[in-house]
Amino acid sequence: MVKAHIQTKDLNLWFGKKHVLQDVSISVYDKKITALIGPSGCGKSTLLRSFNRMNDLIPEAKITGKVMLSDQDIYASKNDISTIRSQVGMVFQRPNPFPKSIYKNVAFGLEIRGEKKSIINEVVEKSLKSAWLWDEVKDRLNDSAFSLSGGQQQRLCIARALANDPEIILFDEPTSALDPQSTAKIEELCIELRNQVTILIVTHNIAQAGRISDYTAFMYLGELMEFGETKKVFTVPENKKTEAYLNGVFG
Ligand SMILES: Nc1ncnc2c1ncn2[C@@H]1O[C@H](COP(=O)(O)OP(=O)(O)OP(=O)(O)O)[C@@H](O)[C@H]1O
Ligand SMILES: [Mg+2]
Repeated sequence: MVKAHIQTKDLNLWFGKKHVLQDVSISVYDKKITALIGPSGCGKSTLLRSFNRMNDLIPEAKITGKVMLSDQDIYASKNDISTIRSQVGMVFQRPNPFPKSIYKNVAFGLEIRGEKKSIINEVVEKSLKSAWLWDEVKDRLNDSAFSLSGGQQQRLCIARALANDPEIILFDEPTSALDPQSTAKIEELCIELRNQVTILIVTHNIAQAGRISDYTAFMYLGELMEFGETKKVFTVPENKKTEAYLNGVFG
């Protein structure tokens, strides 16, 4: 049986008066890839950000309902936000490496936690290997992260997320700024990473959702309209809106 890794119950979110997430109840399954699709402005990024309390940074955001990370309610006040953020990593649309060396980008979180140098070296190598970047950078670890190509920078951001040993990685349109080859590489990497982490990926690329995801969630105007196995959602969607979206009737 598949186990829910993140589960929301009647999640509602407002930015001021604007009701952006409406009664969203969704399960993101353990060690699976879930694609989150839907037209621009429907609330995909907001939903993603509610999974590691990133919306807390926006003063006018108000949230009700529950977000369970395994059996911990992440909005229960005793939980430490930095622990949650290390459990739930995030990779954004535009690669956003720090203005530091390749090595320092991956080592950053561990250095803050005061890890021993020998451990940091090990984790940096392992994370860069897992992000399929090691061979391309092993002789230039002290070069600036900005000397890498866009696709390499995105894999560096994935390595940086992996260095914190997350349980879940949230990807918000990670390939929309990349060329087809870099995109293919990130897609293959996601499939490989599914063996070790749970993945939730927002994408506007329907074909990509079809290629890599096990489950698909379709959102429309702040509501979760449909959720199910990708095979099923793509072939026999239950909701007319899902069908229209998949057929490119609106975007
Ligand atoms: N900080 C904010 N303050 C006020 N409104 C916001 C804020 N962030 C997002 N919104 C609004 O919330 C709604 C959902 O935005 P969100 O970014 O989650 O959409 P999305 O589905 O990710 O869209 P896209 O596909 O274009 O990235 C939009 O109407 C947006 O304008
Ligand atoms: Mg978005």
